[in-house]
Amino acid sequence: MWFRFSILLPLLITLAAAEDVGFIYNGFRSANLSLDGIAEFTSNGLLKLTNETRQQSGHAFYPYLINFKNTTNGSVFSFSTTFVFAIVSQYPSLSGHGIAFVVAPTRGLPGALPSQYLGLFNESSNGKGTNHVFAVELDTIQSTEFNDTNDNHVGIDINGLKSDKSSPAGYYEDDGSRKLKNLTLISGQRMQVWVEYDGVNKRIDVTLAPFKVPKPKTPLLSLSRDLSSIVNREMYVGFSSATGSVLASHYVLGWSFKINGQTQELNLSQLPKLPRIGPKKRSKVLTIGLPLILVSLALAVVSGVVFFIRRKRKFAEIVEDWELEFGPHRFKFKDLYVATKGFKDKELLGAGGFGRVYRGVLPNNKLEVAVKRVSHESRQGIKEFIAEIVSIGRLRHRNLVQLLGYCRRKGELLLVYDYMPNGSLDKYLYDQPEVTLSWKQRFKVIKGVASGLFYLHGEWEQVVIHRDVKASNVLLDGELNGRLGDFGLARLYDHGTDPQTTHVVGTLGYLAPEHTRTGKATPRTDVFAFGAFLLEVACGRRPIETQSSTSEDVILVDWVYSCWSKGDILEAKDPNLGSDYVAEEVGLVLKLGLLCSHSEPEARPTMRQVVQFLEGDIPFPELSSLSLSSSGLTFGHREGFDDFAMSYSSSICKGFTQSTSVAESLLSGGR
Ligand SMILES: *[C@@H]1O[C@H](CO)[C@@H](O)[C@H](O)[C@H]1NC(C)=O
Ligand SMILES: *[C@@H]1O[C@H](CO)[C@@H](O)[C@H](O)[C@H]1NC(C)=O
Ligand SMILES: *[C@@H]1O[C@H](CO)[C@@H](O)[C@H](O)[C@H]1NC(C)=O
Ligand SMILES: *[C@@H]1O[C@H](CO)[C@@H](O)[C@H](O)[C@H]1NC(C)=O
Ligand SMILES: *[C@@H]1O[C@H](CO)[C@@H](O)[C@H](O)[C@H]1NC(C)=O
Ligand SMILES: *[C@@H]1O[C@H](CO)[C@@H](O)[C@H](O)[C@H]1NC(C)=O
Ligand SMILES: *[C@@H]1O[C@H](CO)[C@@H](O)[C@H](O)[C@H]1NC(C)=O
Ligand SMILES: *[C@@H]1O[C@H](CO)[C@@H](O)[C@H](O)[C@H]1NC(C)=O
Repeated sequence: MWFRFSILLPLLITLAAAEDVGFIYNGFRSANLSLDGIAEFTSNGLLKLTNETRQQSGHAFYPYLINFKNTTNGSVFSFSTTFVFAIVSQYPSLSGHGIAFVVAPTRGLPGALPSQYLGLFNESSNGKGTNHVFAVELDTIQSTEFNDTNDNHVGIDINGLKSDKSSPAGYYEDDGSRKLKNLTLISGQRMQVWVEYDGVNKRIDVTLAPFKVPKPKTPLLSLSRDLSSIVNREMYVGFSSATGSVLASHYVLGWSFKINGQTQELNLSQLPKLPRIGPKKRSKVLTIGLPLILVSLALAVVSGVVFFIRRKRKFAEIVEDWELEFGPHRFKFKDLYVATKGFKDKELLGAGGFGRVYRGVLPNNKLEVAVKRVSHESRQGIKEFIAEIVSIGRLRHRNLVQLLGYCRRKGELLLVYDYMPNGSLDKYLYDQPEVTLSWKQRFKVIKGVASGLFYLHGEWEQVVIHRDVKASNVLLDGELNGRLGDFGLARLYDHGTDPQTTHVVGTLGYLAPEHTRTGKATPRTDVFAFGAFLLEVACGRRPIETQSSTSEDVILVDWVYSCWSKGDILEAKDPNLGSDYVAEEVGLVLKLGLLCSHSEPEARPTMRQVVQFLEGDIPFPELSSLSLSSSGLTFGHREGFDDFAMSYSSSICKGFTQSTSVAESLLSGGR
């Protein structure tokens, strides 16, 4: 008679002539096995033969007797069984002791010992023919007393633990290579075992394979043996397992058995899952993961420190005690670095003898600024210089480019100015400019610069000599107001005191003759430069220009003077102005330019007077009534020219000051 196996609920149908007995457990939920020792079912249907307890054994037996023979003296029927197991150990390389599939006359194997006895036998019963026990052991400890081959073997045991046949755990792949692929029983991985007894040929085959690998054709162990004298007519089948001194869990996930025929294959996808993190996995985390984590942590710390030091060095500044009083005028280099996007070339506004000027946006208040990088080698006089910078930073006038502050690094000084969107005036004047300024705009710029210079000379608490008034140092703000900038050369002294001798600095063509003679910068020397500036703006030419055709120098003031003496001063005006100009204003500016360029300082007007002339507050005197003479004008110029002939070419063409180490003259402090 035939019967059907239920997949979910294992069934047994015992018949009177019950040759064809079988059962299948795809997991052990609601299974009725007979357990003893420390064996138990987990809630998700695993058969857990041993829990984490030392020196204990556990048994699980199919609860009913199974007929293995027709008669007591008859031969044993063929049978086959398969099961999936896993051994999860506390340590990755140590476990104990193993699992055995057992065919035994009793369900519980009373009197059997744990550890190396695997819960199968005891010292006295081991090896005795009266046991009637057939077992297949999956042994994870090498017990020399039983002649074990190693600590990871599979053996066929008959009545005793000395295996009749054994082999290191592994399997032969179906490629005919006959090469054993090792398996580690205690790896925690699931593996499947097939045990088959051929009752006709009297042969036992044991096969092992990794989980989900189909049963290999070549068995791991094959032993010819008639089991008739060992297996009784009626026997129990089940598992035995034992622990030693190492905590290990032995699991069976699924099991099927059949008498007389091929056992049914387990449905592997239905088997219960092993507990996620076994003790073994945790130990893997500890032994491999922890050092890894520590090493990467150390690496992270080291690279963090390196990054921090690099960053520190990158943004390092020099701050000395005396600088603390300057408080808000001192900028953080990091802020300037961020503002200028790391001093990118894209942000470069200009470059010259002084250094490079970058556009930037301050990170904290989004203020647009111009940052000038000046290199300085000398430490001498830096304190005075910075005090002066800070003083200049306190100047407030609508026609001055506001100096917001500074920052100091090793060998480098950074000056922070208000950003002037329209750039410097000179680019609107010379060399066929793309955009030129109308007379109205130029006149506004002139009046603005005059007012700014007047403020420096007379209206502030100290006298400030700019020392470098020229078109390229006049910047245009958003409304095209002229603003005097670049106080890099400026000198301060108290009202009523005499300015001290200093290195002669400034730009050729703007230097008053007495300045180069005495080395003293005074408000009158600034007026002289302002005169050159007036002529520049009105004529659209530089104070000294080299005629490309004749390579002769044209001195602007001489030329304007010659026009004036011919009686047509307006001939000197910038042709780019066209007809849109006010003749009286142009005339006034040109004549004022000549007057300011007078070689006698006393003959020059003060900035107060200049402002008054420009505003029309006082009438401009007839030039002839002033002792203006050609010789007086040119004399001064020639002298200035001769003294600086050496540096002529480098200074005149650039909008910046002379190429001699300006920073050094700035910082020398010899005032
Ligand atoms: C192991 O199982 C036994 C019997 O079921 C139980 O008494 C013991 O507490 C269990 N130990 C652990 C660690 O689970
Ligand atoms: C479980 O097996 C025992 C024998 O060990 C039997 O007495 C009992 O009736 C079985 N229970 C079920 C539900 O099959
Ligand atoms: C057992 O008995 C049946 C008849 O009852 C017979 O067909 C079968 O071959 C016998 N099996 C063995 C192994 O003797
Ligand atoms: C079984 O064999 C034994 C001897 O090997 C014999 O004494 C016994 O009578 C036999 N039993 C049967 C039922 O044939
Ligand atoms: C050994 O096991 C047998 C049963 O297999 C039992 O009868 C005997 O008492 C045990 N001996 C000891 C010393 O536990
Ligand atoms: C142990 O096994 C080897 C071969 O596997 C065999 O030569 C030897 O005799 C065995 N020793 C005992 C004590 O069984
Ligand atoms: C497999 O195991 C055997 C016996 O332990 C060993 O000699 C052999 O080197 C192992 N092979 C591999 C590939 O690990
Ligand atoms: C195995 O079980 C899955 C899900 O329970 C089922 O879909 C599948 O058909 C089963 N496979 C076999 C061969 O019974």
